[in-house]
Amino acid sequence: MLNLKNIADDLSELQDRYWPPVEPFNRFGERFMAFLESDAKAQNGQLVALRASPEAHGEFLQLALGTIYAYIFGYKDSPLFLSTDDRLEVRMQVAKIVLEREMLEHFLKPRPVPALSSAEAGIDYLERLALENEGVLHPFFDFLADQASERALRTFLRLEVIRNEVVDDEVAFLIVGLQGTMKKVMTSNLWDECGNGRLQGFHTYWLRRLVERGEDWQELKRWRVASAPWFSKITSNSFNMMLTRSGYAYRAYGSFLMTEGWVKPHFDRILKGMARVGLDDPDTSVYFSRHAQIDPHHTAEMIAALRVQRPVLEKAEVDEIILGAHTAISAGTKMYERLHPYLAANA
Ligand SMILES: [Fe+2]
Ligand SMILES: [Fe+2]
Repeated sequence: MLNLKNIADDLSELQDRYWPPVEPFNRFGERFMAFLESDAKAQNGQLVALRASPEAHGEFLQLALGTIYAYIFGYKDSPLFLSTDDRLEVRMQVAKIVLEREMLEHFLKPRPVPALSSAEAGIDYLERLALENEGVLHPFFDFLADQASERALRTFLRLEVIRNEVVDDEVAFLIVGLQGTMKKVMTSNLWDECGNGRLQGFHTYWLRRLVERGEDWQELKRWRVASAPWFSKITSNSFNMMLTRSGYAYRAYGSFLMTEGWVKPHFDRILKGMARVGLDDPDTSVYFSRHAQIDPHHTAEMIAALRVQRPVLEKAEVDEIILGAHTAISAGTKMYERLHPYLAANA
């Protein structure tokens, strides 16, 4: 419960900024507009044709889904910010389902769930997987630690702001459809995301400090629309797919478990790279230094919740969590493989 007397005590100038740092929606891409207006058969034909060119296929999928999730989240970059359009929304919801299926089966292609003897064995598998998977020690983060130029790191920081700018909304979506200890843990996580009730403790407030310190408010908004590479959307789109399909509620939990587990090993190396090029002032680094402390605990809580969950999780439920974990690993590694040469060229 909040104290009504000091509900505005923690307002600051930084809080006056609109968040997330986006420009109002401009217009649909031509190809996506054509896709929205097509019937199911024509949409399928367009996707089959695109598969022949993986670059064009990936770009179309990720940019289109990015626009759809901007609509789902409803900030100023939504095609329908605080407005409705029944016909367009029906089309976008149809496109969402078609494109998510395409992303899952023809782009992410997560590893299948291994044959495990029981739900408990599945939880053991998840616990090991959270510590050891091909994303944890991915060479992309060694590149950031030891080689990336200041310019490349600044570009990377922009992408991190964008990737994490609505993480509290994502955790809020993740709570829906859970029960018992799993819900308790995720609700506590959301309260952490929201600064345990202090505006300046919101995790996104740390991102505000980063953008402010870099004097990047205007340029970031322009750059994200004009220049951010399509592959920087892969992990957000993968997670948003699972968060916004009720049937994937447990997959979303598994996905978040993996990405929380990545935070310390990734952020430690990001911080090393930032210090190397002199980007280690407290405003720029606070988001990373605080998360390197908090997120190992969030990972442990999420595993612990699975073990004591009542009613006891069934094997099929744990398998869904594992599939979500595999989906996140696929999305993350695909994105790092693309970001590495992109940022190395961004010297
Ligand atoms: Fe956070
Ligand atoms: Fe966290």
